[in-house]
Amino acid sequence: MRYFVTAAKGTEGVLRDELRELGVRHLRADRGGVHVDGPPSLAWRLCLRSRIGVRVYESLATGGARDADELYDLVRAVEWERFLSPRHTLAVGASAKNTFTNHTQFLSRRVKDGVVDRLRAREGERPSVDLDDPDVRLFLHGQGEDFTLYRDLSGDPLHMRGYRRHVNDAPLKETLAAAILRLSGWTRGSTLIDPMCGSGTIAIEADLWARDVAPGLGRRFGFERHLDFDDVARRSFEDIRAECERMALDEGPVIIGSDIDGRALLAAKENARAARSLARFSEMDVRFLAPKGFDGAVVTNPPYGERLDGGMSFYREMAQALAKMNGHTVTVLAGTPMIEDALNGERPLREASRPHQVFNGPIECRVLRYRVANRAEGADPVAVEPRGKDPR
Ligand SMILES: C[S@@+](CC[C@H](N)C(=O)[O-])C[C@H]1O[C@@H](n2cnc3c(N)ncnc32)[C@H](O)[C@@H]1O
Repeated sequence: MRYFVTAAKGTEGVLRDELRELGVRHLRADRGGVHVDGPPSLAWRLCLRSRIGVRVYESLATGGARDADELYDLVRAVEWERFLSPRHTLAVGASAKNTFTNHTQFLSRRVKDGVVDRLRAREGERPSVDLDDPDVRLFLHGQGEDFTLYRDLSGDPLHMRGYRRHVNDAPLKETLAAAILRLSGWTRGSTLIDPMCGSGTIAIEADLWARDVAPGLGRRFGFERHLDFDDVARRSFEDIRAECERMALDEGPVIIGSDIDGRALLAAKENARAARSLARFSEMDVRFLAPKGFDGAVVTNPPYGERLDGGMSFYREMAQALAKMNGHTVTVLAGTPMIEDALNGERPLREASRPHQVFNGPIECRVLRYRVANRAEGADPVAVEPRGKDPR
């Protein structure tokens, strides 16, 4: 298939669901992402609209290589003059498993040699390398003797929406926040609360999704710097962008983020303003969380590791507060088993699905989903009087 949309480990399934919803018909989920087929306009649309995809790669060559010379020949046979000129800059990355060498820098260099030698032979000059901000970024994926050479259409990874100006401790990537929202089963019409919102990523992503605001509207993409992105391509891309702008709704469900840390909230509010998000933020201790209605979703990412004060006793109090959210679904991204132990100890929290493993960077986490049983279903009677500052 022509394109490969990459995803954080564990989020490939929800990416596939998202791409289906975006109208992609030819697709296949794989480790690390989803293969997709279609015209270039599909790839541009996915750069603008995918919330979970991390990069959109276009496959330019696939083939077998048993040594460096065969790899060089594979690369040199690509019509590079269509994609870049000697005035463009270039960077090459690589990953390799059981290939003739596991030295990925060596593989990258061979790819670079194939590209620049072909262009020098045809145009008398060669493009130079720029590892920080190249016009064209290539990526070689090798497994055994099989190689695929991609060009990166996204440029900066797609989690860089352009709205996050401020971060607090341990911010989630926007793409992972979007994946967790989808894993939570949130219906997009109901109220959503993140009571440990940090810099606001979950709440902002929820609002943008609920109102169909395309996440890529505030940024540029790598393909816009490629040689084959000519005036005709640009006009058709601008039409797609304008169509995305028209799609965005002015109103959405109530989305609330709260946090105990005032500095985090300042960051969240600034980010929401930059994203033109309607999510609202206020200061509150999660232990004082109380339901205002009888449905809605809590989706949150509690602190863990060195940043955590209170350890297991904090998690127990947090779990007790979450267990009072009658009629809500509760989804927690847990970076430590202690969180799961605390939540599983609360009777009203009924597991809604099996935990789902995802990776937050290198950290293995579990997405835990519960439904809070209401009294009629046999939960303990609960007091729901708020004792902290009101989030609304
Ligand atoms: C892992 S961070 C959340 C990061 C967030 N998802 C983001 O993308 O920025 C955990 C947050 O929990 C907050 N927190 C810690 N104890 C809290 C408490 N008792 N009540 C509410 N928030 C608390 C911290 O201030 C921190 O912002």
